[in-house]
Amino acid sequence: IRCQSTSTEEPKTKRNLLDNASNLLTNLLSGGNLGSMPIAEGAVSVLFDRPLFFSLFDWFLQHGSVYKLAFGPKSFVVVSDPIVARYILRENAFSYDKGVLADILEPIMGKGLIPADLDTWKQRRRVIAPGFHSLFLEAMVKIFTDCSDRTISKFDKLFEAEQRHGVDTIELDLEAEFSNLALDIIGLGVFNYDFGSVTKESPVIKAVYGTLFEAEHRSTFYIPYWKLPLARWVVPRQRKFHNDLKVINNCLDGLIRNAKDTRQETDVDKLQQRDYANLKDASLLRFLVDMRGADVDDRQLRDDLMTMLIAGHETTAAVLTWAIFLLAQNPEKMRKAQAEIDSVIGQGRTTFECLKKLEYIRLIVVESLRLYPQPPLLIRRSLKDDVLPGGYNGEKDGYVIPSGTDIFISVYNLHRSPYFWDRPDEFEPERFLVAKPSEGIEGWAGFDPSRSPGAMYPNEIISDFAFLPFGGGPRKCVGDQFALMESTVALAMLLQKFDVELKGSPESVELVTGATIHTKNGLWCKLRKRNNNN
Ligand code: HEM
Repeated sequence: IRCQSTSTEEPKTKRNLLDNASNLLTNLLSGGNLGSMPIAEGAVSVLFDRPLFFSLFDWFLQHGSVYKLAFGPKSFVVVSDPIVARYILRENAFSYDKGVLADILEPIMGKGLIPADLDTWKQRRRVIAPGFHSLFLEAMVKIFTDCSDRTISKFDKLFEAEQRHGVDTIELDLEAEFSNLALDIIGLGVFNYDFGSVTKESPVIKAVYGTLFEAEHRSTFYIPYWKLPLARWVVPRQRKFHNDLKVINNCLDGLIRNAKDTRQETDVDKLQQRDYANLKDASLLRFLVDMRGADVDDRQLRDDLMTMLIAGHETTAAVLTWAIFLLAQNPEKMRKAQAEIDSVIGQGRTTFECLKKLEYIRLIVVESLRLYPQPPLLIRRSLKDDVLPGGYNGEKDGYVIPSGTDIFISVYNLHRSPYFWDRPDEFEPERFLVAKPSEGIEGWAGFDPSRSPGAMYPNEIISDFAFLPFGGGPRKCVGDQFALMESTVALAMLLQKFDVELKGSPESVELVTGATIHTKNGLWCKLRKRNNNN
């Protein structure tokens, strides 16, 4: 699937050829075995004009909540229905795997949780998920705060330098800054490694960005040329990719070796008693090595760490980027957020306790994820023939799905659906406080914040799968609470010290998608120190 910047121009003749080829294939495929499912007859050129998820949205309004999209040599079923999404992700989850996504990510993540086959996944999920328990998360808040502090100190220094020249604002690409911050946090939280990327460059950091870049390239390129024999030696970008992977793998191997060599029974005792306050290294790697014994397979551990490094980095950076993009266009909401921060933390630091009180900031984070879900599409492939349930808009009988069908669950469509949200395109963090009844939609329980008591952040349960920021069912994100708390801390600490404005117009911020939605040229902002500061 190729999704590119909204501004990409393709020569006319090439477009016409692509359109013709696409229409021919659509016609050929329309007689296929997905029965009477509506077919989106999109021209391939559409994919060059703007990110794919925009077109999937238009076709959703035109063709309904389950339709077939045929382009290139492939066809996909696009799902924008909470009842069908719930069925695929939760009720019949093990009849589907990650399909195309696993093909793309396997060379990078090996048998990590995202691309893993079901047997490996079952075994590793059982081991990894308990690592994200509440006391681990509490210990992580200190890391989130320390790393955010480092970012803010960097901004402070830049600000002081500008002030010496009589300038009272600094201009920064906040997307790049959030990316560095998220990398530092994931390194320390998952394997106790300080990338220090907020303040420096290093070969490992360059390799991580190189690998992410390649993962994105692969997810937006039609032909998997990297699978061709010799490609890794002949194609320069593939050679670079394999070198980058080697650098990261060597780094991770060293950390794993070190964690195994330094395993101490006293630490294991502390972990067993959940005594995180007295642990020097509270990272997930420590937990995996200490609690599961030193004999855990190194290669598997490395795949697990690599998966979390990739899965937890760009996603969190993207949430922060879009939260600031939205707040900068809604200054009254930024002031409301700052008033909450002033009253909860004043000039102090964020702690686990104060996260509970930063309700508005938490809602800003989830509302940003509603408008800009990361990733905007969930990808599945059916492992056997199946029948989907009927959808919410009156389709009583569901469609037959043959084995091997590729499916996109469009989280973007669900999150912006006019059927489930009032003013779906507006940034309204407050919306999560108000229940929305199902309005007679059979099979959908409506939206009710009280359905998930004790949850700090709205989730897929309260919305009965109309809101899916972290997926749902057994393959739901393991790092969801980690990411939400991290984003809340980072946002609170930035807004505590600075007012933020966009440098250009909102329209000039162009979108690009790979695995996540990000900007084409960065999120350039003007930061002004708040005058409530010392
Ligand atoms: C899976 C989103 C942060 C680790 C997922 C899925 C989503 C998601 C939607 C489900 C994918 C699917 O069903 O196909 C996000 C977002 C994040 C975030 C929006 C940040 C705001 C993190 C972090 C970590 C992480 C911080 C680790 C520290 C994983 C892993 C999986 C996953 C390992 C695979 C789970 C499995 O298949 O069992 N994430 N994620 N994610 N995420 Fe996250």
